[in-house]
Amino acid sequence: EQIKKGNYDHYMQKEIHEQPESLTTTLRGRLIRGDDFKAKSVLLGGLKDHLRTIRRSRRVLFIGCGTSYHAALATRALLEELSGVPVTMEIASDLLDRQGPIYREDTAVFVSQSGETADTLQALEYAKSHGALCVGITNTVGSAISRGTDCGVHINAGCEIGVASTKAYTSQIAVMTMLALALGEDTISTRARREAIIDDLLELPNMVKEVLQLDEEMKELAKELMDEQSLLLFGRGYNYATALEGALKVKEVALMHSEGILAGEMKHGPLALVDETLPIIVIATRDGTCSKQQSVIQQLQARKGRLIVICSKGDAATVCPNGASHVIEVPQLQDCIQPIINIIPLQLLAYHLTVLRGFNVDQPRNLAKSVTTE
Ligand code: G6P
Repeated sequence: EQIKKGNYDHYMQKEIHEQPESLTTTLRGRLIRGDDFKAKSVLLGGLKDHLRTIRRSRRVLFIGCGTSYHAALATRALLEELSGVPVTMEIASDLLDRQGPIYREDTAVFVSQSGETADTLQALEYAKSHGALCVGITNTVGSAISRGTDCGVHINAGCEIGVASTKAYTSQIAVMTMLALALGEDTISTRARREAIIDDLLELPNMVKEVLQLDEEMKELAKELMDEQSLLLFGRGYNYATALEGALKVKEVALMHSEGILAGEMKHGPLALVDETLPIIVIATRDGTCSKQQSVIQQLQARKGRLIVICSKGDAATVCPNGASHVIEVPQLQDCIQPIINIIPLQLLAYHLTVLRGFNVDQPRNLAKSVTTE
């Protein structure tokens, strides 16, 4: 066991820090560098015979649980943008509870690290029985979901042992980004956008290495927050998923109440919670929603909120001109893959909070790595 952890104290810590390598493996052989004659493109062997069908679907359903659901949510907008196909989000158990409508013209994408989660598997059987094309995105070759789907992609993140999913999350987003790119490949008008994303995917492992240098800073922040009862995270756009996933990490391992909030809903309830004591993390990296996040920051500051702001490198003065209790600057990539960067300081924060609060990092109480019962 000690050997497998290498120089790290916990698997979760190791898995957070090995993300430059796990992402490299996820991307390996799948990004085709361009030359003067050929556009940069994406190669997903397991899907190549099905891309036409997916493009012609009347909708794509993303189905998963927990972190896998969040990874799908993080890529929803890009898939809609590049494919033009509407994407609906389904938590597997809720789809089953509702017995929601699924049609032959639908593509159902099942996202699961283990490939064995009972709810996701049952949702797969349900979608199959309604004739949808079923695509699996898993980390486990030979798992029930990879066997049961019509086609799919393995995320190749390597074995994940910590119950809280970290490296699988970033690799899932990378794979679903490539899925969106592959689906958009026929559209000339999006070529420049697709190429810019591919360029940044190639940069991703180095950028992740850079953002991991925030480790000490996040440990210091954890020391400040370790005795708090609650932590809110505000995100929107691509980073609504980051807020949900950051909050999930904090609650599942640090056993601290934490809630991810869609910033656009702030005035419809959450604002009532704001005071000088409750810590609030606001994700405000550069994208089409950044100016709206700046106004959220101003409104929270007007109510004396205790703010921790995550922004793009060099943006601190513009994003929060009145300062904040903490500003965490992260490297900036194309807006749609920024969730991969932005989650990393939050994974580090959850990890350090857990250690400082004295809880079991790799096996949080009451939770299992793979939930194989309903
Ligand atoms: C459990 C794990 C989570 C995981 C979820 C879905 O709750 O503790 O880390 O995100 O199941 O698992 P899956 O293997 O389907 O991604």
